[in-house]
Amino acid sequence: MKIIITENYDELSQKAFEVMKDVVTSNENAVLGLATGSSPLGLYANMISDHKENKTSYKNVTTFNLDEYVGLDKNHSETYYTFMHKNLFDSLDITESNVHIPLGNGDLESNCADYEKQMADYQLDVQLLGIGSNGHIGFNEPGTSFDSLTHVVELKESTRLDNARFFEPLNEQVPTHACTMGIKTIMNSKKVLVVASGANKADAVYAMVKGEVSEDCPASVLQNHSDVILICDKAAASKL
Ligand code: F6R
Repeated sequence: MKIIITENYDELSQKAFEVMKDVVTSNENAVLGLATGSSPLGLYANMISDHKENKTSYKNVTTFNLDEYVGLDKNHSETYYTFMHKNLFDSLDITESNVHIPLGNGDLESNCADYEKQMADYQLDVQLLGIGSNGHIGFNEPGTSFDSLTHVVELKESTRLDNARFFEPLNEQVPTHACTMGIKTIMNSKKVLVVASGANKADAVYAMVKGEVSEDCPASVLQNHSDVILICDKAAASKL
């Protein structure tokens, strides 16, 4: 695992952008695995600025997002569909039919199987990941099988608390379930780029890098991947 420790979040976002830009400029048909949450926001802002300033094109890029909440209307302000369009896709020249996000409504089992089928036609050039304070990747919570494919999960209370900040202003509860790419799905990516910021990620970052490879810490599986870049700020790296 290549580890880059930065002074702060801005530098983390710049370094992550350099990795992403290299992927999209070396192959105009690049396939990107994308994440939501706070961690990638700076990276996405850099991708948008670069697209505007340097005309880096995403027209032929294909994307697959990690996960989606179950039970929210697609256009709800807190779906990952809305998040991705607001924070990235609406500001790029990406072709909407190349964008893939798991569906959190309808027949969930069949949606998950369809998602795997769609992904089977591609190999991700890079999978971007944030890490949960409990070591989750995607919404693969501790205890998830390393052999898992896209599936429905019940979110841990700690994850729902971590994400409550997005739902509190709406006076709504964080959904109890989500659809997520599985750990095996994530591990199929050619490259994995993990971004982690802040002291509340320090234990999870330590367990990912130095802990035992165990389903108790889903991110620890990345020790078994041959091309992982972890970019974290000093606070997230403080226990390494
Ligand atoms: C998001 C996702 C999650 C987040 C993780 C960290 O699509 O799959 O694993 O990456 O919960 O979230 P933030 O970045 O908000 O701390």
